This record gives sequence, C-alpha cells and structure tokens, in this order.
Amino acid sequence: MADTLHRVLRGMPKAELHIHIEGSLEPELIFALAQRNNVRLDYASVEDLRRAYAFTDLQSFLDIYYAGASVLITEQDFYDMTRAYLKRAHEDNVRHVEMFFDPQTHTARGIAFATVIDGISRALADARSEWGISGGLIMCFLRHLSEEEAFATLEQALPYRDRLLGVGLDSSERGHPPEKFARVFARCRELGLHLVAHAGEEGPPDYIRTALDLLKVERIDHGVRCLEDPELTRRVAKDGIALTVCPLSNIKLCVFDALHQHNMRALLDAGLKVTVNSDDPAYFGGYINDNFLQTFDALGLDAGHARQLARNSFSAAFLPASEKQKRLDEVDAYFAEAGLA
Ligand code: ADE
Ligand code: ZN
Repeated sequence: MADTLHRVLRGMPKAELHIHIEGSLEPELIFALAQRNNVRLDYASVEDLRRAYAFTDLQSFLDIYYAGASVLITEQDFYDMTRAYLKRAHEDNVRHVEMFFDPQTHTARGIAFATVIDGISRALADARSEWGISGGLIMCFLRHLSEEEAFATLEQALPYRDRLLGVGLDSSERGHPPEKFARVFARCRELGLHLVAHAGEEGPPDYIRTALDLLKVERIDHGVRCLEDPELTRRVAKDGIALTVCPLSNIKLCVFDALHQHNMRALLDAGLKVTVNSDDPAYFGGYINDNFLQTFDALGLDAGHARQLARNSFSAAFLPASEKQKRLDEVDAYFAEAGLA
C-alpha cells in the first residue's frame, strides 16, 4: 500500500513554487566550481562541508548558504547550477517551476546582474525545449538589507523586466518585518510583477497579516505559523491565499522538532491552499519528491491528499488560466488512470 502511494506521489505531475536556486547547489558542485574559479573554501572536503549542515535555526543555515553561493562567478556557473536542479526536478515529474533567485548575494560580490539572470534563464529555456518544463523567475529581495538596496536592485532588474514573473522577500525573517519593503513592493506592483513573501516561517503570524495587507502579496512562502491565529487562518483560507510549505526545511531549521509533528495535515484540514516544496534541497536533505514521500509517511496522508496537493501546486501557480486548466486536467487524468479519482 505504501509502495503504491509512493509510486503515485513520485509519478504525479506537479509544480514547484518555492525553490531558491542557490539552495540547489550540491556540495560536489560547490567544490567543482570553487576549483574552476579558484575560490577558497573554509572546508577541506565535500564531507567536511556536508558535516556543517547541522542547523539550529534560519540564520545558522543562511550563513552557510551565502558562503556556498560565493563559488558562483560566471554565466556558465549559474547555468550549470540551474541545469542540475531542473534535471532533478524533471526526474521528480515537476512540470512547472517558479524559481527564486537572490541577485544581491551576487551583485554584492561584484558579479553583474546580467551574468546571474542570463545563466539561469538559459537553463530554464533549455529545460522548456528538452523536457517541456515551463517556468519563471521570482527575484527575491534580501530582507536583512535596506529598502534603499532593494530599490537599487529593482533598478538593475528593470532592463530584464520581461524575464521576471514576480518578486519575493527572503533571508533573515525575525526583526525584518514586511513593512520595511512596503514601498518597494508597491513599485513592483505598478510594474505588473507578481508578489510573494516569506512570512510565518520563524517570524510571527502577524508578519503574514502585514505581508498581505501592506505588501499585497498573492502567496505566502512557508506561512506555517498561520495556525497560531485562528482569525488569520480563516481569512487566508477564505481568500484562497496559497502557502508554499517546505516540510523538510522546517525540520532542518527547527521550526518543528520532527516531521510527525509538522502541521501540514492541520493546514490542509483548515482548508488552506497548501503546496509542498523543497526550499533549499541541497541543504535540507531532499528534493520535492523526498518532501512528499517523507511527509506522507510521517503524517499518514493518503491519495486524496496527494491529488489535492498536486492540484494546489498548479492552481497556486502564476500561469495563464488556459495553461492552468490544462495542467489541472493532467492531474485529474493521472489520478483517474491510477483508479484514485
Ligand atoms: N533563503 C533561502 N532559503 C530561505 C528560507 N527558508 N527562509 C528565508 N530565506 C531563505
Ligand atoms: Zn524559502
């Protein structure tokens, strides 16, 4: 029975809406790129680096994640990283990806914005033509940096406006509330960009409310702490605001002590539009299907939940309506064929 459910979860068409491309950089690739670019690392070997992946909270992860990204120098480096992720995603039957990238992590090191976005977009274009994966880019502002720096980044992005699906907000959540970026997000809204933000991962439920009210975001990234506020939960459910939940990330960053204590089932029971995602798969021990399989095992979820989550992933995507319907029909056909509709 578990085998059947695992097969269904692996094979079902799905969208991934919460993946930081820099978080897909595997230790082996970090070392290969360090060698290629003559970048010195503070770790003696791949194993040594992997051993450092014992995080106590979000900041302890971010420190290592930003150090890992320091090996990315050329357009080809950004291409190779993105290509490796998309190949893995394709193997997991991901049909659509909305991918975060953190330009400030690179421009602060003197890498041109063009180098970053050209490498990532070229890999996305190749994945579309080779594997039929559709995708888009969501440019994240680092919330530990200033509003002024976010505006400067937006300025640099303007020549590439057409390559951006939207903007997001990531990095250290506590102490950096959404309102810090209200004016930047208002400008992005005028530009017609989709808006998302990390909120309620480590930060309080109130950050979810202000992300909705002041930033006017269309989806909340993580949002698991929403349930601490029943009124907010009712509102998020009623308005159909999707939460891009990342179960393995939440365990690695100690948001929950263990996967069987994760609130994914409670979020679903509350009628929230939950999706399953990998966040930073190279750091958190699994890609999207690992997240699905381990969460289903830990929480005893069933094929009905699988279908709901696959449908949510497309329904929450920033796809044109006709494309969205096509993908939803594919999910329904898949479950009908498996005799699970
Ligand atoms: N950047 C990469 N992963 C992140 C996460 N889980 N939360 C906030 N910022 C991030
Ligand atoms: Zn994230």
